[in-house]
Amino acid sequence: MLCKHFSFVAAVASWAIQPVVGYVPHQPRDQEATCKKTTVAILGGGMAGISAAQALSNASVHDFTILEYRDNIGGRAWHKPFGKDANGKPYTIEMGANWVQGLGNPGGPQNPIWTLAQKYHLKTHYSNYDNVSTYNKNGHSDYSHLLDDYDEAYDIANKKAGEILRKNLQDQTAQTGLALAGWNPKKHDMEAQAVDWWKWDFEDSFTSLESSLVYGCAGDNLTSNFFSDHDNFVIDPRGFNTIIKGMASTFLRKNDPRLHVNTQITDISYSKDGVTIHSKDGSCVTAAYAICTFSLGVLQNDAVKFTPDLPEWKKTAIRKFTMGTYTKIFMQFNETFWPTDTQYFLYADPTTRGWYPLFQSLSMPAFLPGSNILFVTVTNEMAWRAERQSDEQTKKEVMEVLRKMFPDKKIPEPTAFMYPRWSTEPWSYGSYSNWPPSTTLEMHENLRANTDRLWFAGEATSPTFFGFLHGAWFEGRDAGRQISAIMQKRCVNANSSMLRECGPRKHYETLHGTSPFADYTAVNGWTVSSFYDNNSD
Ligand SMILES: Cc1cc2nc3c(=O)[nH]c(=O)nc-3n(C[C@H](O)[C@H](O)[C@H](O)COP(=O)(O)OP(=O)(O)OC[C@H]3O[C@@H](n4cnc5c(N)ncnc54)[C@H](O)[C@@H]3O)c2cc1C
Ligand SMILES: *[C@@H]1O[C@H](CO)[C@@H](O)[C@H](O)[C@H]1NC(C)=O
Ligand SMILES: *[C@@H]1O[C@H](CO)[C@@H](O)[C@H](O)[C@H]1NC(C)=O
Ligand SMILES: *[C@@H]1O[C@H](CO)[C@@H](O)[C@H](O)[C@H]1NC(C)=O
Ligand SMILES: *[C@@H]1O[C@H](CO)[C@@H](O)[C@H](O)[C@H]1NC(C)=O
Ligand SMILES: *[C@@H]1O[C@H](CO)[C@@H](O)[C@H](O)[C@H]1NC(C)=O
Repeated sequence: MLCKHFSFVAAVASWAIQPVVGYVPHQPRDQEATCKKTTVAILGGGMAGISAAQALSNASVHDFTILEYRDNIGGRAWHKPFGKDANGKPYTIEMGANWVQGLGNPGGPQNPIWTLAQKYHLKTHYSNYDNVSTYNKNGHSDYSHLLDDYDEAYDIANKKAGEILRKNLQDQTAQTGLALAGWNPKKHDMEAQAVDWWKWDFEDSFTSLESSLVYGCAGDNLTSNFFSDHDNFVIDPRGFNTIIKGMASTFLRKNDPRLHVNTQITDISYSKDGVTIHSKDGSCVTAAYAICTFSLGVLQNDAVKFTPDLPEWKKTAIRKFTMGTYTKIFMQFNETFWPTDTQYFLYADPTTRGWYPLFQSLSMPAFLPGSNILFVTVTNEMAWRAERQSDEQTKKEVMEVLRKMFPDKKIPEPTAFMYPRWSTEPWSYGSYSNWPPSTTLEMHENLRANTDRLWFAGEATSPTFFGFLHGAWFEGRDAGRQISAIMQKRCVNANSSMLRECGPRKHYETLHGTSPFADYTAVNGWTVSSFYDNNSD
């Protein structure tokens, strides 16, 4: 690794819009001099990185460089060929993001991901979570009344969460909030445990005990009420990331030298004057600003070295928030032996919560009809367990569950079987982020804040839409907008309220455990504060 030992900060007297070359005398010139110069370095080519680049282009900042670990853009919107159709052609399945969540209502705000899906004619279909059949170890068993019990309690807990948020009161675990509202599944009531998993863990990857009541509910609210509770499942043969490639095509030409793929960043040096980025292949880039869009998992796994070491307040924020793992295990059979009119099948295992709990059929009209593809989702502990064991072992366990669910059927072995191991992907280290209990917006401001000229954006830096593609879109856009405003000196003569919009972003050296409602502002990423004005209880 050519530049691994190399740890000075590119100190440049004054970065204007044009990159300026200037070095302090003791620096190893030969190395620094070979670095590519750019105004804004965008670290990562997922949704946040591409959105940031588009926002910069929109603001007429064209001198940027996108550095991406993998051989293509898209990040966690990642698909693979799987199985085969009647003509021997593989299907496309999504390893990562799969739903456009919260499309928006006519006349109301539209989810930008849904706008892109329409623009690029993404093939999707309505995902109906109410279309769920319930099973236990003896086959079909109707415990759907428990789903209603949960929903009733959730509405109460959600209202309470809104009140805690507005009045800046003490956060709780989501489990506490739900229990106080009347949802208190017993440890040995495995049907209630299955419902509890499907209603909470299926979205957050973490249990309700591991999740913040306030921000868990707020996040759900802001996607499903601010936009809408309509989710569409993506079944496009081009893959979900076709919308990210579509966005990129509006400002990147073919073989554009501003996009560097197969570039694994190993070192980031930052200061008040600029950022220098070194990659495993020995290449380096110096920039006036950089936007780091790595997942929280990448930051938590020390996959990249920061120089100087990230400040304590930033390291605390990186350790405070959590990265979950959500694993879809895909199977293709030679026939569809499960009911063909139902989208979801919930299974209550007699001994283990979260044991292959939710099967989803793609072999139905409007999805991938005739595909005989079924997949089952596991989260966190059960996902990590599946990651550690062989495909064969996992297949054996899934088949045992299917044989319990459908005792009257002679179930064939799958003809294709595949699942990702998200927590070991070195460019992601997990699936998406979550807010643990007892969080404050203040803590999150530290995750989102820049350290000098190094900015942060991505799914995890969105306080309103963390975990979602649209969260990454908004955060990339905001970083691109704010940096271009600073560079174009649109902030220099601004009055005090405009200065807040311009950043640099606020951080707290010491956390106070409090977030007054007045802090829920656009400058803190809370772009939807009007939602609360119209929905105050
Ligand atoms: C299994 C799963 C299911 C999901 N389901 C949904 C869903 O249904 N709906 C939804 O809206 N969202 C879903 N998500 C979340 C969604 O995929 C993410 O929120 C979104 O893709 C994050 O975009 P990002 O740009 O913030 O991060 P990423 O997409 O992770 O982009 C970061 C980029 O940085 C690159 N990178 C990392 N390390 C380095 C390095 N050292 N050097 C250079 N480059 C590096 C990565 O390769 C990546 O391309 C899901 C995610 C997963 C994993
Ligand atoms: C860039 O501008 C186009 C055209 O106005 C708009 O559709 C797009 O959403 C903008 N992108 C970002 C990231 O702001
Ligand atoms: C799912 O929807 C289909 C079509 O409307 C219906 O026939 C089926 O009974 C539903 N299944 C469940 C479990 O609600
Ligand atoms: C969610 O929305 C509901 C309905 O608008 C509201 O009563 C509640 O306070 C909100 N909760 C949170 C946590 O935002
Ligand atoms: C699927 O395979 C099983 C044996 O593995 C066989 O009994 C069954 O008839 C096959 N189904 C179809 C539709 O070919
Ligand atoms: C000051 O900021 C406010 C809010 O952004 C804006 O409406 C107003 O025009 C600004 N005033 C000046 C003098 O720029």
